[in-house]
Amino acid sequence: MKIAVLTGAGVSAESGLKTFRDSNGLWEGHDVMEVASPEGFRKNPELVLDFYNQRRRQLLEVHPNEAHSAIAQLEQTHNTVVITQNVDDLHERAGSSQVIHLHGELLKARSVYKENTVRSWKKDIVLGDLCENGHQLRPHIVWFGEAVPMMDVAIEEVSSADILLIVGTSMQVYPAASLLQFANYHCPVFFVDPNPSLNQSERFRIIAEKASTGVPKAIEQIKGLR
Ligand code: APR
Repeated sequence: MKIAVLTGAGVSAESGLKTFRDSNGLWEGHDVMEVASPEGFRKNPELVLDFYNQRRRQLLEVHPNEAHSAIAQLEQTHNTVVITQNVDDLHERAGSSQVIHLHGELLKARSVYKENTVRSWKKDIVLGDLCENGHQLRPHIVWFGEAVPMMDVAIEEVSSADILLIVGTSMQVYPAASLLQFANYHCPVFFVDPNPSLNQSERFRIIAEKASTGVPKAIEQIKGLR
């Protein structure tokens, strides 16, 4: 049995990382296009670098929660692939070994010039931090308006999954939200979110709870599907 787990900011909310669209969300203090777009970076690179420096410093202070751990433990009984919209490394720190980051990774940096110059980066990025070829470094994050290079891989994983577990995403940002359409019609979909954006149906099994309690419940139901 293969499980694809699609996660969003809600899976990391109980670790202390803000979601984007909840009240008091991350975007509330910022104009998204100012801090998460190539235009914003061109206009004011220090503002953008500082925005991600603050998020990177916070990430190094927080820890995976029960939902990340329960998802990681799924690997003991199922072929599990995590497809996350999150840029944190909490799935990896909880022990998940197959994690696809659709929107990049906060603890990596790359050159503004070439996308394939990705390196691990856990400290601040400031103007003057350059790659080997002398180009400015930037966060390895997919900004609004940029391509989502891992989307094709993610579509393959979802279309070949026997079960789909979706946790903590408003399903409002594309192309990530379109992944649901690629699940086989006979593939049961479990949806864990306190404010679910999908309705209960034969196919969609909604668990309207926070991730830390809802994910273990979903996994109990999944284990009953053998
Ligand atoms: N447990 C589970 N889900 C939660 C919790 C929680 N404790 N708290 C909030 N949620 C849910 C909300 O109800 C909402 O449905 O998490 C979801 C968060 O939605 P968004 O803030 O839109 O986050 P996400 O769906 O991941 O956003 C997708 O948008 O801004 C871009 O690139 C950014 O990856 C992000 C993408």
